[in-house]
Amino acid sequence: MGNKWSLQQVKPQPGRVAIVTGANSGIGYEVALGLAKKDIEVILACRNGQKADEARAKIIDEYAGARVNCLLLDTSSLRSVEDFAAQFSAKHQTLDLLINNAGIMMSPYEVTEDGFENQLATNYLGHFALTGRLLPLMTRTPGSRIVTLSSLSYKWAEIQFGDFHAEKGYSRTKAYGQSKRACLMFAFELQHRLSAAGYDTRSVAAHPGLSKTNLDQYFPALIRPLGNLFLQPAQQGALSVLYAALDTAINGGEFVGPDGFQQMRGYPVVVDSDEYAKNRELAKRLWTASEFMTHVHFLS
Ligand SMILES: NC(=O)c1ccc[n+]([C@@H]2O[C@H](COP(=O)([O-])OP(=O)(O)OC[C@H]3O[C@@H](n4cnc5c(N)ncnc54)[C@H](OP(=O)(O)O)[C@@H]3O)[C@@H](O)[C@H]2O)c1
Repeated sequence: MGNKWSLQQVKPQPGRVAIVTGANSGIGYEVALGLAKKDIEVILACRNGQKADEARAKIIDEYAGARVNCLLLDTSSLRSVEDFAAQFSAKHQTLDLLINNAGIMMSPYEVTEDGFENQLATNYLGHFALTGRLLPLMTRTPGSRIVTLSSLSYKWAEIQFGDFHAEKGYSRTKAYGQSKRACLMFAFELQHRLSAAGYDTRSVAAHPGLSKTNLDQYFPALIRPLGNLFLQPAQQGALSVLYAALDTAINGGEFVGPDGFQQMRGYPVVVDSDEYAKNRELAKRLWTASEFMTHVHFLS
C-alpha cells in the first residue's frame, strides 16, 4: 500500500501514438482520456462507429487539446483485425502504445465467424493477432509498450489445451477465466520473446481490480445495481493500465493491479500471479496454438 500514483506525475508526451481497443466504454474510455490528456495521439479502436464517435466527442469535450481518431476494429474477427492493422500501418510509421483492452465477460455461448468461442476470440485471440500484426511498427518505435488486460478472474480457469473452444461443454465463468489467463500468459511470454530478440519494446499485463463499467451486461438485471455498492469507479481502475503504460519504473513482464484488499481496488502497484501463469512451457504451448488458430506468426 502507499503508492498513490496518479496521472499528474506523468509529463505530456506529444508526438507519441497509442491504440486503445474497446475505447468507447469503461476502462478503455478512461485510459484513452488519460492518454489524450498527456497529448498522446489516441486511436479509439472500436467495433461500433457511432459509439466511437461519441467517445471521441466526449474526450475532446473534456480536453480540448486532445488528438483522437476512430478506427473500426472487431477483436472477435481475424478479418477485422487484419483490416485494422493494414489501415493503421498505411497511415503510421510508428506505434508507441498498444492497449489490448476490449473485452466481454460471461457472455452466452457463441461461435465467431472464425469458429472460435466468443470470449476467447474477443478477449485473447484477436489481441494476439493484433499484436503480431502491429509488432513491426512497435519494434521500430523506441520506448514502445504493449499493455494487455487480464483480470483477477484469470484464476477461475486453466487453459483447456484439448478444448479451447468449449466444444465439450460451456461454462461462462470458465471461458472468461481462460481468456483472461491466456491474456496474462501471453503478456509474460511476449516479454520473454521480445527480450530474446533484442527489442526494447516492453510487454506488461494489467488488471483494474473490480471497477464499475458495462462489463456486467450479461449479469441478471437484479444483480447489476449491487455493483454500485462495492465496485470502484472506472477512472480508478484505469490507473492500473495507465501506470503499466506510462510509468518509467515499470519493467517488461510485470503485472500491475490495485494495492487494496485482495487487489479489488486502490492505487496501482506491481502484483504477483500464480505459478501456472508463470509456467513457460505452458505459455509456449499456448503461443504455438494461438499462431495456429490465428495464422499470425511472430517472434517464433
Ligand atoms: N470492470 C472490471 O472490473 C474489470 C475487471 C477485470 C478486467 N477487466 C477488463 O477490462 C477490459 C475492459 O472492460 P470494461 O470493464 O471496461 O468493460 P466495458 O465497459 O464493457 O468495455 C468493454 C469494451 O470492449 C469493447 N468490445 C467488446 N467486444 C468487442 C469486440 N468484439 N471488438 C471490439 N471491441 C469490443 C466494448 O465495445 P461495445 O461498447 O461496442 O460493447 C467496450 O468498448 C476487459 O478486457 C475486461 O476483461 C475489467
